[in-house]
Amino acid sequence: MRSQDIPGDLSEILFTEAQIKARVQEMAAEIDRDYAGKEPLLVGVLNGAVMVMADLYRALTIHAQMDWMAVSSYGSGTQSSGVVRILKDLTQDVVGRDVLVVEDIVDTGLTLTYLLENLASRGPKSLKLAAMFRKPEANKVHIDMAYVGFDIPNKFVVGYGLDYDGRYRNLVDVGILDPKVYS
Ligand code: PRP
Repeated sequence: MRSQDIPGDLSEILFTEAQIKARVQEMAAEIDRDYAGKEPLLVGVLNGAVMVMADLYRALTIHAQMDWMAVSSYGSGTQSSGVVRILKDLTQDVVGRDVLVVEDIVDTGLTLTYLLENLASRGPKSLKLAAMFRKPEANKVHIDMAYVGFDIPNKFVVGYGLDYDGRYRNLVDVGILDPKVYS
């Protein structure tokens, strides 16, 4: 789906498909460099990370593996509460592995704070985070985000994995959802 397929739904396009592709390539090049001679395990967090995982993983020139987790945050409405339940755990053991968590977005940072702590307790050799988008709130928590695609405003942003009510994840561009869509 492209932004022209949903006329009026976006109030602003933040990043085009081409800009996202170019940034993913840059991130992959950094990861290639940093993990040279290693074989990291990329851990994606369902569902939003599917797009960035698919693109970032394929852009790597080093060997790497992929695994997935699904989590649900016990929050009310749209607010994260920081209490996270693991709905689907990894299928692989991370002991001694170089683990790179791949996320679409870090917003309040509560999900990732929990997840990184949880993964760290399992004894990986190293643990880092790559996120395609970062909202301003994320800077308030102490998460070391080794790879960040773009900083985005604190608005309702959709596309490239980011959804509103399950929609727009398949939008290839990323933009701000017009309030009329959800009000
Ligand atoms: C999103 C995103 C992160 C989390 C970030 O997932 O993929 O996991 O929210 O928010 P936080 O920094 O405020 O904790 P969401 O719960 O929307 O599920 P989804 O990936 O299926 O869209």
